Amino acid sequence: MRAPLVELHCHSEGAASPAFVRECAVRNKVALPDNMFTADGAYSCYDFLHFLSVYEAACTAICTPRDYADLVYTYFTEAAAKGLIYGEMFLSSDHPADVGIDYVDFMDAIADGYQRAHAQTGIEARFILTCVRHFGVERAEETAKLAHDHPHPLVTGFGMGGDENWGKPADFTRTYDIARDTGLGLTVHAGEVCGAQSVSDCLDALNPTRIGHGVRSIEDENLVARLAKEGVMLEVCPGSNIALGVYGSYAQSPIIRLRDAGVRVSLGSDDPPYFHTDIANEYRQVQKAFALSDDEMCAISRTAIEAAFCDDATKAVLLKKLNP
Ligand code: ADE
Ligand code: ZN
Repeated sequence: MRAPLVELHCHSEGAASPAFVRECAVRNKVALPDNMFTADGAYSCYDFLHFLSVYEAACTAICTPRDYADLVYTYFTEAAAKGLIYGEMFLSSDHPADVGIDYVDFMDAIADGYQRAHAQTGIEARFILTCVRHFGVERAEETAKLAHDHPHPLVTGFGMGGDENWGKPADFTRTYDIARDTGLGLTVHAGEVCGAQSVSDCLDALNPTRIGHGVRSIEDENLVARLAKEGVMLEVCPGSNIALGVYGSYAQSPIIRLRDAGVRVSLGSDDPPYFHTDIANEYRQVQKAFALSDDEMCAISRTAIEAAFCDDATKAVLLKKLNP
């Protein structure tokens, strides 16, 4: 495939391989639950809530700024080797805070890992500070305040992941107001575990320009029309949806039906080692499942760049790479 890859949806801790997490656990003397890995050493993950619990257990092993710097460096150098030209990565400040890492030290480590990858490969990246819905409203607001009080040139977006069934989007209006006032681009996970109403509620309460996943919007044609009209972009992660049982196969993902209805869509790997995928595989599988041309795959990358949380000069450079 000819299309340069662009990814707007990958979580930092979710990008940590099982081997890396085990190595961190030994180095940092953290005991991990036995049942979080399968017999062959992969992450165990049998449904959404189990995935979240394994993910949070893995986070307890990633304990030092060096761990985070190595994680980000490894992710972006490996992804660049597979054809990624631009990536946005979700960063949760809660997980480093829970293991005693100060936010400013955390961001220094993230920037160090990224800058080494950038110097080596030329890859561009930005970061989306992310609150965790089921950690509650208070912690979410603290996350937004961190972004506000410690602006960082690489942190250009704000998001929310976690358990979509927890609370209501309107509970997080103040959190998103703080992030918006800070000048950050806004995205929120919705329409992954829950249906179309969850996406509408997020649009009404939080006014994001992008939705993480959003695939279950397909269940409401009025919502599909609204997404198309308002130009809201969906960060679609088909491999993640298959691993978590939302759809049975790539061909069952509504990504192309959404695109054909005028909704802007991009591709992401979400938590690649958990879901046995990577961004190159997501592009390959979607191209194969829907018999898409290289030009159609390039158009997906173009849509992602247009919706990216980066400055116009960076977008112009990236767009040139799509049309050399
Ligand atoms: N955090 C990491 N991956 C996630 C996902 N797929 N959904 C919600 N929160 C997440
Ligand atoms: Zn996600």
